Amino acid sequence: MATYLYSTAKSQAQELAYESVCDLFGAILPASSIEITRPKDESLGDYSCPISFKLATSLRNSPNEISQKLANSISGKISKSYFSQISSNGGFINFRLSDKYFKEGISEIKKKKDEFGKNNVGRGKKAIVEFSSPNIGKPMHIGHIRSTILGDCVARVLKFNGYSVISSNYLCEAGLQTAKLLLSVQLFGTEKIETEKDLLALYVKIHQEMEKNPDLEKKAQELVLKMETGDKKTLKELSMIRKLSIKPFDRNYKVLDIDFTEQVFDSDYVEEGRLIVEDAVSKQIAFRDKTGETVANLEQFNLPNLVVLRSNGTTLYSTRDLGLASRDFKKYKFDLRIYVTASEQNLHFQQVFAILSALQKPFAKNLRHIGFGIISLEDGKLSTREGRVLLLEDVINDSISLALLEVKQRQDYSDREALEIAAKVGIAALKYSILKISSEKDIKFSLREAVKFDGNTAAYLQYTCVRAKNILAKANEGLPIPSPSKNRQYSFTSEERKLVLMLSQFPEVVGHSARNLTPYLLCEYLFKLALSFSSFYDKSAVLKAESTEARTIRLEIVKSLESVMTSGLNLLGINVPAKM
Ligand code: ARG
Repeated sequence: MATYLYSTAKSQAQELAYESVCDLFGAILPASSIEITRPKDESLGDYSCPISFKLATSLRNSPNEISQKLANSISGKISKSYFSQISSNGGFINFRLSDKYFKEGISEIKKKKDEFGKNNVGRGKKAIVEFSSPNIGKPMHIGHIRSTILGDCVARVLKFNGYSVISSNYLCEAGLQTAKLLLSVQLFGTEKIETEKDLLALYVKIHQEMEKNPDLEKKAQELVLKMETGDKKTLKELSMIRKLSIKPFDRNYKVLDIDFTEQVFDSDYVEEGRLIVEDAVSKQIAFRDKTGETVANLEQFNLPNLVVLRSNGTTLYSTRDLGLASRDFKKYKFDLRIYVTASEQNLHFQQVFAILSALQKPFAKNLRHIGFGIISLEDGKLSTREGRVLLLEDVINDSISLALLEVKQRQDYSDREALEIAAKVGIAALKYSILKISSEKDIKFSLREAVKFDGNTAAYLQYTCVRAKNILAKANEGLPIPSPSKNRQYSFTSEERKLVLMLSQFPEVVGHSARNLTPYLLCEYLFKLALSFSSFYDKSAVLKAESTEARTIRLEIVKSLESVMTSGLNLLGINVPAKM
């Protein structure tokens, strides 16, 4: 574990408290039971320890008195620590960090640069993050954006935490939906099929037709069989559909600045899926029911049974997911495999994971599903070109156009400049609107609000970064920054303390987000950091500081802020414009 200043100070507080407990009362509890938290009221201190409440009963004394005694004892031990003052209040012991902490906090960030915050949670471990995973033959719609953005961020966070990450796009084409499209191509595709729009039209057409003529359903079923048995003509048509579909997907990924390590097709997991099902049948985990379908019995898991093979032997979504996990493990020996999909699929993944664990697959315990809530736009109706579905491409374009209005309102940029900024702000607005909400919750947001420069928005964070850069650029135009003299003691102001303490906690936040797969906590942190910077900057003159010492320290704080904010935004997949 990389050690960072914040964790060193925290464990110092813990050790000091433990020593004093032993000195005064004996070794009556293990060191690990000493908790260090943050005090509710920041004016009381920077860390706080509630141990006196635990001790009160066994010592037959009030928490108040115990904490007073302990605070006194700890005060005698702090000369070599990062603390300058220990006090007690309402049963809590409060620790106040010394100027030494803040000074070292700044140099730690300066020294580590963009490595600051990286830690080893995932060192030597391999993670597959599978996300986006749209369906061949259909355009990406607003629903796909959440998986795409969330998955990309999770992949970035894991990488930052030392994992070797494979980001994987699982393109789904096997199965009835694509078969219907193939059928449509065969029946109505007389004119040239050139773009994904032509595909969409064919897709709509076959669905209309199927309502009139139920026999077509059977035809589509037959095509599934042909796809799975490798019928040449069918595969050729499928490959045409693939090509046309993937083009617009890749356009979206490019604009969103999202890269995949691999793109795979679900039809390549049909065979492996069948093998797993056979294995499950032989181990009596699955059985063929009266209708001829193969069904996995999940009673022991308290889950409903799951059909894993159709009666005509063709595979299902479930079959291919069994195959995918198994093949991926053979290929990558992953320590973690993450699936990012709508929470409608929660049950599906519970069932798939349960089957694999019933089969005692060693990787079953490494599978994690992130299920997310529904996403919708308040002002979404504006942009529906196709009438029925809100296409991702339209949402992206709308977001950029609205950002352009916002950018132009603020300053007189050349058209090119304005467009460059708007592209970054518009994309960031989409990403941030999604990432800042805890994944299981539904999101309803307004693009107009999302592109604003004030409030809890991406542009506000981007702007904070640009503002810091501008200050630093101005400082460089003037006199060079002298190094602060080593012996002179600088006394940090409360705004400075607050900001540096927050900065020094970045590694903790990053580690937490990786362990719990919670990008929204990272967003919360960055927003608070931006607010804290803003109040620091309001209250402290930087370029015209009262002393060289203060100017130097404040410029270094600005620099640290710029560096941490940039790293943080990077983790969210957000780029910062050069100007704004
Ligand atoms: N294509 C699916 C959909 O759009 C998502 C696939 C998720 N991944 C998986 N391994 N099942 O709903």
